[in-house]
Amino acid sequence: MALCAAALVFAASAAWSTGPGGTAAPVTPLRPVASFEGIRDPAKRSAALFAEAGKVIQSPRCLNCHPAARIPTQGDEMRQHVPLMVATDGNHGPRGLPCATCHGADNAPTFAAGIASVPGNAHWQLAPVEMAWQGLNLPGICAQLKDPRRNGSRSLDQIVTHMKTDHLVGWAWNPGAGRTSAPGTQEGFGALIEAWVKTGAHCPAA
Ligand code: HEC
Ligand code: HEC
Repeated sequence: MALCAAALVFAASAAWSTGPGGTAAPVTPLRPVASFEGIRDPAKRSAALFAEAGKVIQSPRCLNCHPAARIPTQGDEMRQHVPLMVATDGNHGPRGLPCATCHGADNAPTFAAGIASVPGNAHWQLAPVEMAWQGLNLPGICAQLKDPRRNGSRSLDQIVTHMKTDHLVGWAWNPGAGRTSAPGTQEGFGALIEAWVKTGAHCPAA
């Protein structure tokens, strides 16, 4: 019951409060695709492009929603989600307390102590278990991304489209007050992934 009450407070405050603005932290830059042209060997260039894109893929904004256990994590420290949220019933969380109870269609300011905003997106849900990235190193994530059994049966072209245009992916560059943006821009990130696929989608060495 206490958990439900907490959820209602979050949902209510998200609906009407204006909350603190919060100053945005400077965005870590991403190298442009052109800066990799000096690497003559396409396989090496490909792996280097993926390593650069890895700055985004391994940022807390992505990893928090791609956890190894069915529990999302929060913040740049990737601490356990408060209140405890176990998504064993499905990607939307427990039936009585789905993600959308607190996560609205957009980021919402709050007056809750220590929380500048509740992140939001119309499709807010946990990444399925086979797409877990936490606990893997970058070569491991790279291999998983290419594996149709673990990437939602996507072709490499579909992975490019997902990285470039998906709304949940895009949220990482508009994460709401109190959170660091993913490095660079979604456009720059999408260009790196596209160039990675065009050069043979080679993974960095383990
Ligand atoms: C709010 C939670 C959330 C956030 C934040 C999030 N994802 Fe996901 N991600 C998901 C869900 C849910 C799916 C499964 C969707 C599907 O298969 O249609 C998914 C699937 C994916 C996939 C396709 C499957 C795979 O793993 O190969 C990629 C690629 C991906 N996400 C990349 C990212 C990147 C890059 C970021 C950060 C810039 C990110 N995601 C942030 C929830 C999230
Ligand atoms: C009872 C309310 C509530 C429910 C239900 C809830 N969340 Fe959250 N969630 C929050 C709040 C509040 C924050 C912001 C905490 C902060 O920034 O310190 C948050 C933050 C997050 C973050 C961190 C984003 C980041 O990068 O820092 C993720 C990921 C997340 N929630 C995923 C989920 C998922 C997935 C579900 C459903 C399975 C869910 N949440 C259900 C309240 C909730």
